[in-house]
Amino acid sequence: MRILFVCLGNICRSPTAEGVLRAMAARGSETLLLTVDSAGTADYHVGEPPDRRTVAAARRRGYELAHLRARLILPEDFERFDHILAMDRNNLSELKRNRPAGSTAEISLFLPFAGVPVDEVPDPYQGGVEDFERVLDLCEQGAEGVLRRLREIQATR
Ligand code: 4NP
Repeated sequence: MRILFVCLGNICRSPTAEGVLRAMAARGSETLLLTVDSAGTADYHVGEPPDRRTVAAARRRGYELAHLRARLILPEDFERFDHILAMDRNNLSELKRNRPAGSTAEISLFLPFAGVPVDEVPDPYQGGVEDFERVLDLCEQGAEGVLRRLREIQATR
């Protein structure tokens, strides 16, 4: 199963979701074979590591994100991934607008896909420490939900 998380800059929310899901999947006695990646819809920060506030918030909970580098979503991502999960509605609209004809990936919002009763992971970029903590909270809940969903999907195959 190949999962791509997408936000705007690929330096706050989607790298957090990527790191958290990868860590949780590795911790669990997963029989799921997961490929996890992240990308952004905007090119402002391409090639940069995650925002230092994101790295710090993740580190406080035991996730290491500093090695990740921001990239743009590519046309081939729409075939290479099974699920493309957007952090908010703006990201979702961008994905739907840029989806190539014949795209095979399922595109949806991250949190509802994971069964979390909140729709969006709010952009923390102009915010404070508590906004970055909130991103971690939602990504942890969302990643738990993704693992639950993937086990269900796998069990029905
Ligand atoms: P992200 O956060 O989409 O969660 O990575 C942002 C990062 C950078 C900007 C906006 C949001 N920016 O405008 O540079």
